[in-house]
Amino acid sequence: MYYLRVGRVQFIGRHHPLYPQEVELRERVLLSPVGLDLAGFQRLFPGVEERLEHFVTVIEHPTGRRVIGCVCLLPHFPGTGVGKLMQMAVDPQRQREGIGRELVAELERRAFGELSLSELFCHARNDAIPFYERMGWTIDGPQFIEAGIPHHRMVFRPPAQDPQ
Ligand SMILES: CC(C)(COP(=O)(O)OP(=O)(O)OC[C@H]1O[C@@H](n2cnc3c(N)ncnc32)[C@H](O)[C@@H]1OP(=O)(O)O)[C@@H](O)C(=O)NCCC(=O)NCCS
Repeated sequence: MYYLRVGRVQFIGRHHPLYPQEVELRERVLLSPVGLDLAGFQRLFPGVEERLEHFVTVIEHPTGRRVIGCVCLLPHFPGTGVGKLMQMAVDPQRQREGIGRELVAELERRAFGELSLSELFCHARNDAIPFYERMGWTIDGPQFIEAGIPHHRMVFRPPAQDPQ
């Protein structure tokens, strides 16, 4: 399926003016449904928020720029060369428009390009597994419970490059 590109993906830090909107989206879509807020996320994953790289999809709105999607990369975790995708969320009114796909593509470009990682993994909520499978990710292990809901570890390795 082909999508019209919605908004543009921006790479931001925690001091960027759009960061509070990213946090609001994560709390609304991911965290509050499991009884958490950002502080709860930080308790669950100590020291992680400070190390995350943040990608947001931004649209121009008459009231100003608006964040409608986000994803985060935890580079070199749990060891060198591996990265964890976390906090993938798209505004419920804008899902199934290709926004999640574009965010994952941008995160993969950063991970396998600039950072030269060799593997990405995530803890996928069971509901989101078909989405990651569409992106070429595969399940890697049995179901487990995190934040009270069932998840599977999923992995992605870039296809081997032809040596030139
Ligand atoms: C999962 C989520 C990030 C997907 O984002 P999205 O912008 O809706 O996804 P896209 O429109 O880019 O979809 C890309 C592909 O995945 C498919 N897809 C997306 N969500 C799907 C789902 N729940 N079930 C089956 N397929 C799905 C789309 O149909 C599309 O397929 P295509 O390649 O045939 O076009 C979004 O639905 C979301 O925020 N969900 C709630 C939070 C969540 O579960 N986050 C993940 C936590 S691990």
